[in-house]
Amino acid sequence: MNLAKFFRGGGLRESGAIEADISPVELPPTDVLLAALHALAEKRDPVSRYLDAFNTGTFKHPDGRSDELGVVKVEPEAVALLSYLIKKSPTPLSIEVGFGMGTSCAVLLSTLADTRRDFEHVVFDPFGLGGGRGTVVEAYLKERFGRKFRRVRQRSEIGLAQLYAQRGAGAAGFVFIDGSHLFENVVADFVLADLLCARGGFIAFDDSCYPAIEAVVNYIAANRPDYTVMRLAARNLSVIQKIHGDKREWFSFNPFEVPNRRDWTPADAAQIVPSRLD
Ligand SMILES: C[S@@+](CC[C@H](N)C(=O)[O-])C[C@H]1O[C@@H](n2cnc3c(N)ncnc32)[C@H](O)[C@@H]1O
Repeated sequence: MNLAKFFRGGGLRESGAIEADISPVELPPTDVLLAALHALAEKRDPVSRYLDAFNTGTFKHPDGRSDELGVVKVEPEAVALLSYLIKKSPTPLSIEVGFGMGTSCAVLLSTLADTRRDFEHVVFDPFGLGGGRGTVVEAYLKERFGRKFRRVRQRSEIGLAQLYAQRGAGAAGFVFIDGSHLFENVVADFVLADLLCARGGFIAFDDSCYPAIEAVVNYIAANRPDYTVMRLAARNLSVIQKIHGDKREWFSFNPFEVPNRRDWTPADAAQIVPSRLD
């Protein structure tokens, strides 16, 4: 029996379109990315407040309120890379999974405001952090960016699927995944982000030094030739770029490496030590 007719494949076979491959992005060195982040901080208040918060541990709202970052600190090297990539987003829609302290969100929104007239940044996070942490940052970003920034209090597994149903395949050019860190949730985020991701678009995975996220990135590297995989392109951050449609056979599967480490055991502790910016 020919089973192929019962299965539908990826985007290319669905659309029937023949499209040229995208050339994978080339990443500048970290010092160049950090210099660009500092230059952005000169122009954009949220970036300068993020850098101050990273160094002091406290985000300070211009009205005097404050928010403690605690352990939720996305490093300058990582946000500098995210900032570089979001400028290359092929569509005006970008997405984050996990608001947390809103620090990556502050830098991404500022980058968008600096480079594009029209943009829409949607963040899924139904929970937030304990003790209401992050609410001061969220209020500040709402004041600064209005309707171009939307935080949706919905699990990403649901919210990304709804967004796909509303906007369709290829609607988003950039997705940053930093929500639930359980393996199956990161897989679900990837599956849905992939549906939303335009050709040439990016999906970034925070905490990819840790086994659950590293395993997802390993799966993609072994099984998704439609993506270029940049492992640990910044400390603790891996990035993939969609370079063509999904041309796999319906039965395709390649074995992939699952790290032989448990829980929150990093691949290399040296890679995740937070660095102070002076
Ligand atoms: C590490 S924090 C995100 C940090 C953020 N990138 C920043 O710059 O501060 C993880 C966030 O993911 C959220 N989260 C957990 N499970 C989620 C899910 N299923 N969908 C969406 N967000 C989720 C948590 O509420 C938490 O706020």
